Amino acid sequence: MIDYQNILNTITSNLKDIEEKGTVATYIPELAKIDPNKFGIYLIDANNNSFSAGNSNELFSIQSISKVLSLAKCFGIVDNDLWKRVGVEPSGDPFNHLSLLEFENGIPRNPFINAGAIVVADILISNLKNPKEEFLDFIQQLTNDKTIGYNENVAKSEKETGFKNIAAANLLKSYGNLTNDVDTVLDFYFHQCSIEMNCKQLADAFYIFMNHGKCQRGKSHLNMNQVKRINALMLTCGFYDEAGEFAFEVGLPGKSGVGGGIAAVLPNTLTVVTWSPGLNPKGNSKLGMQALEQFTTQTSQSIF
Ligand code: DON
Repeated sequence: MIDYQNILNTITSNLKDIEEKGTVATYIPELAKIDPNKFGIYLIDANNNSFSAGNSNELFSIQSISKVLSLAKCFGIVDNDLWKRVGVEPSGDPFNHLSLLEFENGIPRNPFINAGAIVVADILISNLKNPKEEFLDFIQQLTNDKTIGYNENVAKSEKETGFKNIAAANLLKSYGNLTNDVDTVLDFYFHQCSIEMNCKQLADAFYIFMNHGKCQRGKSHLNMNQVKRINALMLTCGFYDEAGEFAFEVGLPGKSGVGGGIAAVLPNTLTVVTWSPGLNPKGNSKLGMQALEQFTTQTSQSIF
């Protein structure tokens, strides 16, 4: 039996002394206010045992981690029709790059780069009566936690400065790969990114990717084939142009966000979430990646 609590404590104290904690995202002004010294980690295993250390109960902006949850909701509705409008290959580019999108005629490389997530948002809007309410309800069901919500200040802040996303949505529209109008799709996308959760809530939400599509209460949200595919996408595309490095150092399917969170899963075994707001130059949490490298190395728990 692995002593997870001891390992999480050791990792947290190892990281506390590191001075180079990365840089908090400033391109969304509201995110620039976050204290870079925060660090939290939370783990839940397949038997519902949980372990935590640091600031694991503090809310943070989940940002791009929401893309896995919107993909899950969308995949559950339209199944493989989704892949007519978005690809499944790593882009090798930063999350907000647009050059490939034009080169490949408006079909985003994968659902985790911003353009891909904007297409997923468009499909959700076309298929849901009250998209923002129903998406939040999906997350509240996964976590059995009604307190989770959007942060309107963060959504507004991103709307005011989201020029690249506005450009991406317009480019998608020009290629006929957005059904709804640009403003409606971006409003949903900025809101999904603004959702606030803590490490525990995120680990609870990602439990379905570890547990064959079933949440902790045993309700099935995705089939096994869909879970396989989402986990494959997390492994190959979850960290953009650093997906190779994350697989190499950590060896788990996972997803990062510019709020400093990382959620990762070892299928059938555990879900682990870290939060440290300082980012590396690729936009992924610097200490979060180090924490997860230490975790999989010390426990020998990785898909490899
Ligand atoms: O669209 C954006 O730029 C942000 N709302 C999300 C980007 C993000 O989290 C990238 N991940 N590391």
